[in-house]
Amino acid sequence: MLLLRRCSSLTRLPLNSQRYQVASCAVRLCSGSSEDQRLNHRPSWRHALAGLLAGAGAVLAYDLHRHKAKRVDVAVPTIGRSSSLPVFSQEEVAKHRSVKDGVWVTYKGGVYDITKFVAMHPGGDKILMAAGGALEPFWALYAVHNQEHVLEILSEYKVGELSQEDVKKQQAVKSSDPYSSDPERHPVLRINNLKPFNAEPPPEFLSDSYITPSAFFFKRNHLPVPQVEPASYRLHVEGLPGGALTLSLEDLKTWFPKHTITATLQCAGNRRSEMNKVKQVKGLNWGIAAISNATWSGAKLRDVLLAAGYSPDVTQWARHVQFEGLDSDVMGTTYGASVPLSKAVSEEGDVLLAYEMNGEDIPPDHGFPVRVVVPGVVGARNVKWLGKIVVSGEESSSHWQQNDYKGFSPGTDWDTVDFKSAPAIQELPVQSAITTPADAAVIDRSEETLTVKGYAWSGGGREVVRVDVSLDGGKTWQVAQLRSGDKGRAAEPSPPLGRAWAWKLWEVTAPLPAEVGELEIVCKAVDNSYNMQPDSVPPIWNLRGVLSNAWHRVKVKIREDESKE
Ligand code: MTE
Repeated sequence: MLLLRRCSSLTRLPLNSQRYQVASCAVRLCSGSSEDQRLNHRPSWRHALAGLLAGAGAVLAYDLHRHKAKRVDVAVPTIGRSSSLPVFSQEEVAKHRSVKDGVWVTYKGGVYDITKFVAMHPGGDKILMAAGGALEPFWALYAVHNQEHVLEILSEYKVGELSQEDVKKQQAVKSSDPYSSDPERHPVLRINNLKPFNAEPPPEFLSDSYITPSAFFFKRNHLPVPQVEPASYRLHVEGLPGGALTLSLEDLKTWFPKHTITATLQCAGNRRSEMNKVKQVKGLNWGIAAISNATWSGAKLRDVLLAAGYSPDVTQWARHVQFEGLDSDVMGTTYGASVPLSKAVSEEGDVLLAYEMNGEDIPPDHGFPVRVVVPGVVGARNVKWLGKIVVSGEESSSHWQQNDYKGFSPGTDWDTVDFKSAPAIQELPVQSAITTPADAAVIDRSEETLTVKGYAWSGGGREVVRVDVSLDGGKTWQVAQLRSGDKGRAAEPSPPLGRAWAWKLWEVTAPLPAEVGELEIVCKAVDNSYNMQPDSVPPIWNLRGVLSNAWHRVKVKIREDESKE
């Protein structure tokens, strides 16, 4: 990138020819580098720009891939002053706020005409929010995107410079970082994305404790963490014959019996990084620890729906329960998801409006003051900072229900995907992974035995009944010991059939095989419906990298005892 920038600054030509020269210079200087790879992936740059402009990154990614923009010449950023371009005042820029009048934005003193970009994809209405003004606040909210790539795209649309006077005025307006009130996090977490915050604990932490301490519980946020005042918090329940019901936190805690469950939450993208090794997918590069186990306490959703007028008659017209979070984007669009009504009202479904996690108030990152916990169901439907519940004939219309968190064939790619054709993920398939030893660990021969540890879980309340472990890449197997509690402590009671919401931790201790320098350790779990994990990733690869549950494999080396050699 540095080389590209230098190249650009050396070449001061009229805009179009400058682009051309810079492009050839870029290709020459950077061939074979990772930069080269970026140049070959134009659609993802456009995706990034869409995210920068409007923040609806994934929505627009989908749109953009379906309505591929015509390729334009390769260009590099020309962010900064360029005397050859006209100077515009902010007032002039502000006149360009529609496709008809042109869509202009400013960024770091440059003026950009993005009309063509907006016209080229259907997410334009969101992008228009930035029209006539500065991009920086949008950048602040959607910092998820790779800035270098975005700048490269943006530079193609540069038409002028903002007047010095207006640049100064913009600088004076303190740009507020919507993430500035996000909570403190434990530094041990492995951050996949800082803003919004997405992180997982080191895998070995998971098998160290049956209940994951809240600080180490994986964190998956799509937006800034909202600050909710418990005294003024209100939960709205709508769509039932009894009319709307509004509950305060106190009402939730005192009107309804408190229930506690132990439940594992797993992100649909857990283990996505293994899919990336087969072929690049879109999404955060989660390792094996986007899964954690906690105790959750709160009111049963069923009880709250009954209080709001639910009766079996409702099932004649209603099929879904929608949830809305209090976290929102610049458009005011909130995070949302829905689950089947049958799960929500089932006595055995154990869906909670939880106000406690691991015996304390739910921490801000996990949904303070109230989140819905839908045990057995993908993390995405466990809406945090819950503001509204709607009983409806329809699923949630949210992007995360309609155009994300769905599974597709390995043969489906962004050119062919039709999100309407696949159901939203609800119950997750059987899963297991090795938390220790880590991949590429070195084991001393003098240790004589090897202990392998991991977790196993299945969706829909199906209990894991067996975990098989192999030390030779799957040729021979042994059965691991399962546990539902911490060593030396009483195990959790066996769950009723269909209500196994929590994971099992497992371990195997085996002699180190003689005369082998490397081991390929493999694990696979079996649930009580005899569902098993698929043996490899390619047949389950999908473009969003969700539902990644192939046999987990790690390779370790055995270091021979040098004194014996
Ligand atoms: N709820 C809201 N309001 N906003 C979110 O971004 N993320 C969802 C879900 N609920 C999300 C949300 C996703 S994708 C997951 S995997 C889980 O929360 C993660 O929960 P955790 O952060 O408590 O681990």
